[in-house]
Amino acid sequence: MPDKDRIFIFDTTMRDGEQSPGASMSVEEKIQISRVFDEMGIDIIEAGFPISSPGDFEAVSAISKSLKNSIPCGLARATKKDIDACHESLKFAKRFRIHTFISTSPVHMKHKLNMTDEQVLEAIKESVTYAKKFTDDVEWSCEDGTRTNLEFMYKTIELAIKCGATTINIPDTVGYSIPEEFAKTITSIKNNVPNIDKAIISAHCHNDLGLAVANALSGLSAGVRQIECTINGIGERAGNAALEEIVMAIKTRDDLLPYETGIKTELISKASKIVSNATGFPVQFNKAIVGKNAFAHESGIHQDGMLKNRETYEIMTPESVGVKKTSLVMGKHSGRHAFKDKLSDLGYADVTDDVVQAAFGKFKILADKKKHIYDEDIVALVDDSLIIDNKINAINLKSLKVFAGTGEPQRADMTLDVFGEVKNTSQTGDGPVDAIFKCIKELYPHDVKLSLYQVHAVTEGTDAQATVSVKIEENDRTTVGQSADTDTLVASANAYLNALNKMLIKREKKSLYKNIEPKKLKESI
Ligand code: KIV
Ligand code: ZN
Repeated sequence: MPDKDRIFIFDTTMRDGEQSPGASMSVEEKIQISRVFDEMGIDIIEAGFPISSPGDFEAVSAISKSLKNSIPCGLARATKKDIDACHESLKFAKRFRIHTFISTSPVHMKHKLNMTDEQVLEAIKESVTYAKKFTDDVEWSCEDGTRTNLEFMYKTIELAIKCGATTINIPDTVGYSIPEEFAKTITSIKNNVPNIDKAIISAHCHNDLGLAVANALSGLSAGVRQIECTINGIGERAGNAALEEIVMAIKTRDDLLPYETGIKTELISKASKIVSNATGFPVQFNKAIVGKNAFAHESGIHQDGMLKNRETYEIMTPESVGVKKTSLVMGKHSGRHAFKDKLSDLGYADVTDDVVQAAFGKFKILADKKKHIYDEDIVALVDDSLIIDNKINAINLKSLKVFAGTGEPQRADMTLDVFGEVKNTSQTGDGPVDAIFKCIKELYPHDVKLSLYQVHAVTEGTDAQATVSVKIEENDRTTVGQSADTDTLVASANAYLNALNKMLIKREKKSLYKNIEPKKLKESI
């Protein structure tokens, strides 16, 4: 049994988080995210729902091969084929967890499952016993737990533990509970399930009433020792409990929350950015811990207080979550070696030489255009180079000229390399970005819905780099593309092309999967 005061952090960004409408992540993005999570000290990473799609299966499998510290986990409904898919995708890891679940509330059992109490109990017995054949580490969840009749819940939990579950997760699936009630539910489970001491109790709270973090934390005093959460709080509907809020509340209020997590909090900001980039979900400015304004002090009185003593208005330091003060970095005379050292300071010690080379080339070009180069600029450059490093682009921008302003319709002249063939066109549009996107459509005809176009300034000032995010949709599959440049229009073209190139990779994989029978598919991935 674990140390009583240690709280296990179970991250479900890549499973429940990915269930946010429009938040899909590619396999490569999930692998990059899992590296940061692994380094950050997340105890268990729920990497996906392997039966749900070949992409999820592939991501769970790749992640289970690469984790050094965290335990990989996959989700399974209460069926053998779901559990088989979990096992097949996780079996490469030295140690892995299978997380199986079934609904236990009257409303779910009647309308979703059409099952009686006895049938649900039988399904729990079969699924947990079956999962246990593959691993000692089995987690069982009673979906819609907080709307479940308590007497029935005790029976389900007792049975799951008897069949081998070592973690019992209590989901507030629809975010309906309030803190006192959630804590009371955990206390009742502790008092009424005879074998509960053989399992770790976990909280999985959704944020429909904005209470996910409060509910999860309220469970701690009642005996919860694992919290399920996501970076930036992403997840179904209003999301899940935000990992960064849970972890920093425990760290900051250790006077009232005498627990500890294994999280290296200095990596929180990096994790937040990588998840936001991969999903294309911006982080709201005033989001606790990771929002752009979380450590900004605007009013004169506050600034004055901060100058006298930080503690007047700061309950935790920005450095403790990895937010570094914007610092002026190198100029155009800085060499490759200094650049590499800087990358390492910024948390990019393990990027490949190709990425360093590509980012350094861009840095030199940027240093010619921009007077002051900040840490954020370097991060944007290296992120941009990581995007390119991971894919062989089929379509590349060779040149772009844009004619914008009042009077004339806006026009773009573009040259693209499309699968090795150099093509050019000139298009007018309703604004310069529209003209650019029309050029791309002309040179590479395709039919997708543009569902997001977003520009962020990386730093202050009119010469700041812009990071552009573009989200495109094809047959319900979402792809996010990104690019950074001091020229917002060049970044826009490259972000769109990045999304398109990623979509082509997805299409290629899909057609590959189509030609393989399901059983072979599992073996081949
Ligand atoms: O919210 C929920 O009930 C879930 C379960 C699958 C744990 O995500
Ligand atoms: Zn959930």
